[in-house]
Amino acid sequence: MSEAEAEVNHAENAENGTSPSENGNEDEVKEAETDKDKDVQAEEGKPMSKNQIRKARNREKYLERRKEKRVVEKERKKAKRKAMREEGNTEALKKPKVHMMADSSCKIRVCVDMAFDDLMSDKERRSCVQQLSFAYSANRRADAPLQFYVVNFRDESRKFYDSFTTNQDIFLDTRDLNETFTDDQIVYLSSESDNVLTELDESKVYVIGGLVDYNRHKGLCHSRAVQKGWKHARLPIDEFVQMKTRKVLTVNHVFEILLQYTIDQDWERAFFHVIPKRKGPEKKALEGEKKDEEDEDKTDKAEGAEEETTEGTETVKQEDKGDC
Ligand SMILES: C[S@@+](CC[C@H](N)C(=O)[O-])C[C@H]1O[C@@H](n2cnc3c(N)ncnc32)[C@H](O)[C@@H]1O
Repeated sequence: MSEAEAEVNHAENAENGTSPSENGNEDEVKEAETDKDKDVQAEEGKPMSKNQIRKARNREKYLERRKEKRVVEKERKKAKRKAMREEGNTEALKKPKVHMMADSSCKIRVCVDMAFDDLMSDKERRSCVQQLSFAYSANRRADAPLQFYVVNFRDESRKFYDSFTTNQDIFLDTRDLNETFTDDQIVYLSSESDNVLTELDESKVYVIGGLVDYNRHKGLCHSRAVQKGWKHARLPIDEFVQMKTRKVLTVNHVFEILLQYTIDQDWERAFFHVIPKRKGPEKKALEGEKKDEEDEDKTDKAEGAEEETTEGTETVKQEDKGDC
């Protein structure tokens, strides 16, 4: 796949919210090919095991589905382009402009630390690499891209990354974080930190832990920073946004928040622009509004208490229905 194709692919995946696997991406192809090799071995005299037969059938089904999906997708895009042309929407038909890091007016450095490769399953590694490529696409589409680094990038995740992408405008390094940067430049980002990130500084490098673990390793990046004596900070989510879910974000979301912040230095706007709706971000009430809300709460509680005395247990049952 050429870089341009890979980029369009990533951008489309990111925009559609579809995973590469849903789009029939190369990882599945790779798996299918590995299975294919096994089949060939089987065809060369060795009898196929039940597992091999099942995998071969699945591969055939997968290849068939992929072919059909591609035809449908091609038709859909064709129709979309045709409609755009008919509407005279030539601007939207143009390919998104890409911007190089070297030409960028933004010199803020952001680095993904891939030191956790051995703690992830294959599926998690793929997901992590996919997040890297979403971040890459966002950076390329930005008018002023961040200086994007990936360190400790070797082992399985690197193999997977190299197998499907030819992204070039990114600094990839197999060395450790403190071999690429000096200790005093490092600010490790972690939702567990007590320090709040208020602004971005060109003399620092903001590090995102390259980890997809469904929070199995809670606080791991924070511990790594503390052990190494590096500075650490959390994003100022609490200061601007009320979240319904936990405040641990994915690698690409953290990257995109930093990228968005560099545009207008507005954290609130960056959070609302990037944090997905399903995470339930809501505007944080200002001090004055908070007081009004507290007063309203008091009134509600007083009214509730009144209802409870008149309606008995009914009120309690209603409250129990809330999801925890
Ligand atoms: C999915 S999280 C990793 C969670 C992992 N269990 C941990 O606690 O380190 C991926 C990375 O995104 C960054 N991150 C996620 N949410 C953050 C937040 N609210 N503030 C700062 N960094 C955050 C951190 O660098 C983190 O290592």
